[in-house]
Amino acid sequence: MGQDERPLLLRVDPHRPDPAILRQAGRALREGRLVAFPTETVYGLGANALDADAVARIFAVKGRPADNPLIVHIRRPEELEHVAKGVPERARRLMERFWPGPLTLVLPRAPDVPLVTTGGLDTVAVRVPAHPVALALLEEAGVPVAAPSANRSGRPSPTRAEHVLDDLGGQVDVVVDGGPCPVGVESTVLDLSGHIPVILRPGGVSREALEEALGGPVAVGAPRELARRSPGTRYRHYAPRARLVIVAAEEMEETVRRWLWRGARVGALSRRPLDLSDPALLVWPVPGDLARYAHELFDALRWLDSQGCQVILAEAVPEEGLGLAIMDRLRRAAAAEPSPAPDAGP
Ligand code: TXA
Ligand code: MG
Repeated sequence: MGQDERPLLLRVDPHRPDPAILRQAGRALREGRLVAFPTETVYGLGANALDADAVARIFAVKGRPADNPLIVHIRRPEELEHVAKGVPERARRLMERFWPGPLTLVLPRAPDVPLVTTGGLDTVAVRVPAHPVALALLEEAGVPVAAPSANRSGRPSPTRAEHVLDDLGGQVDVVVDGGPCPVGVESTVLDLSGHIPVILRPGGVSREALEEALGGPVAVGAPRELARRSPGTRYRHYAPRARLVIVAAEEMEETVRRWLWRGARVGALSRRPLDLSDPALLVWPVPGDLARYAHELFDALRWLDSQGCQVILAEAVPEEGLGLAIMDRLRRAAAAEPSPAPDAGP
């Protein structure tokens, strides 16, 4: 499997993956190769977390800054001792309640985990994913797997195998296609080192659920503090090529009209039906609850982008439950500098 060949594409049943198909992918991981695979949140780009050379390839392929640490995925909590040490009691309680699932815990690093995996930090981020395909793959691999989201650095995270192929195509050795990811936004990253636990990145497990499980307050990291404690949050993120603007629900229709009037090709992610039709308007309706919005968010951004929208107007949601993660992703996507359109002049 050389650099220029297309990746080996393995299709599996998302609910009952055939272990025989995943055996090949597991072996590839053990041998130091890169395997993209579905988790319940987004697709991950995996490598053996204990193999510094394999992990270094993840950074190269993604174009990821070396100080942005990776999440280590394990099959079950008992495997934690190979990657973390001095695990606090509070962390154990959360593992019991939320693993397997979209909660990543930042813990003291065990010496076996190379510094390249943790971006030079003495802590390691760990989770047990809830997707049957990810769990079966970890079982076959028999090693902890470091996996960031399988997008090129800065792009919206991939929630379908096609997104991985679009972004990283021939640079990955194996892509396991297990269909769309159910949650659609990444895991919650929680730092338990201080007196009050701090959410470094809101995600699939809500702040409210964490507070309930811990019986006390959980803080959401302030941007400046985050830049220090979680290097990844410093970098450009989730950016579609189009400009992204966050719009209050009640202002959506008026805002769409204004952009159309200016002659823009407009994409709208809207929870309410819009009483507008225009050939330059593409609406991605997200009726229903926040889980559905989260599930479709990255897919919608990529699709509206592929349709040549110059601006994407995304409906704001209340910052409760999954809404905190949705608004975090929208803000980061909106803050990023849009890349110039292919035909843009100097
Ligand atoms: O849902 C997810 O978490 C997905 C799937 C594949 O598991 N993975 C993912 O990885 O989103 P990535 O690399 O895109 O994001 C990892 C985040 C970054 O914000 C990074 O800075 C933070 O976790 N992180 C990792 N290790 C850390 C550590 N030791 N201390 C603080 N933050 C850490
Ligand atoms: Mg990512």
